[in-house]
Amino acid sequence: MTHKHAQALIQTVQTLTEPGKGILALDESNATCTTRFQAVGVPSTPETRRLYRELLMTAPGSERHISGAILYDETLRQATSEGVPFPEFLSSRGQVPGIKVDTGAKDLANAPGEKVTEGLDGLRDRLAEYHGMGARFAKWRAVITIGDELPSQLCCEANAHAMARYAALCQEAGIVPIIEPEVLIDGAHDIDRCEAVTEHNLRIVFRELQLHRVLLEGAILKTSMVISGLRAATRAGVQEVAERTVHTLQRSVPAALGGVVFLSGGQGAVEATRHLNGMQQLAGNRTPWPMTFSYARALQQPALEIWGANQESVVEAQQAFAFRAHMNALASRGEYRDTMEKEVA
Ligand code: 13P
Repeated sequence: MTHKHAQALIQTVQTLTEPGKGILALDESNATCTTRFQAVGVPSTPETRRLYRELLMTAPGSERHISGAILYDETLRQATSEGVPFPEFLSSRGQVPGIKVDTGAKDLANAPGEKVTEGLDGLRDRLAEYHGMGARFAKWRAVITIGDELPSQLCCEANAHAMARYAALCQEAGIVPIIEPEVLIDGAHDIDRCEAVTEHNLRIVFRELQLHRVLLEGAILKTSMVISGLRAATRAGVQEVAERTVHTLQRSVPAALGGVVFLSGGQGAVEATRHLNGMQQLAGNRTPWPMTFSYARALQQPALEIWGANQESVVEAQQAFAFRAHMNALASRGEYRDTMEKEVA
């Protein structure tokens, strides 16, 4: 990789992780988007999906808190109501357009209950096309399930291998890879178990990235937090989640990595904000990599509910989204306080 090529990747990472900003995950596949829309009673069509994504991307004020947006293939090809292609619209506001490039988690052979993420076939050509359309970063999500005997070494290794090949192809194409190994929150496991699985898996992920000669400075990790399972008998509080997550990352993520962003993974909107804030208060700028948010549900849910109840309520839905973006931006600096929720509500 030439110095110039590497510098372009690093510049994209810096824009995405600019202090006080985070990434909007807007890359639900059509199937996932349909599930989210069904929950609020909205039919899922290319046009309703376009309108909803437009509402979020154009929300006044959100550009101060959102450094980039991860789109889905359909959305990358769509445009605002004025006809401006979404990638162009984002770039014009100084936000980086991104694209989800995996094709989903499928059953992993010989590993009952576990998944492997697909999407490597034809990826080089797709990345070239996406780069031509303005995308400068990409996302690939792997799913790690915690169970009595899970995850298996096979599942961790297979997913890490695919992610490393994806990351190398992205960088070759001038696209920053976001590597997202999500340890699912589903289950009754305690936080100790989540910590052990997260650390074990991250070590495998970074070993594979190294093997595949991925430039860590030009890549971003999108991780789940170290957190109790949703059905755990007792669930750890904000301080403990913050401490466990930061310490686990410090043990397993190389200092050269460009940045760490978090997924919300089924946490409530306010809960996800509190956790990010807790981590920043604990670690501040003492971690070797910047840490910020890259939430989908935790940023979108309040807006989606307002819009679902009445699709005329575009302004109210935009305000709800911009508000969550603002709260998370404050949390990314450790400056969020619970009372801020009530002040504006
Ligand atoms: P959530 O924040 O809803 O977990 O989504 C983030 C994401 O990108 C999932 O792949």
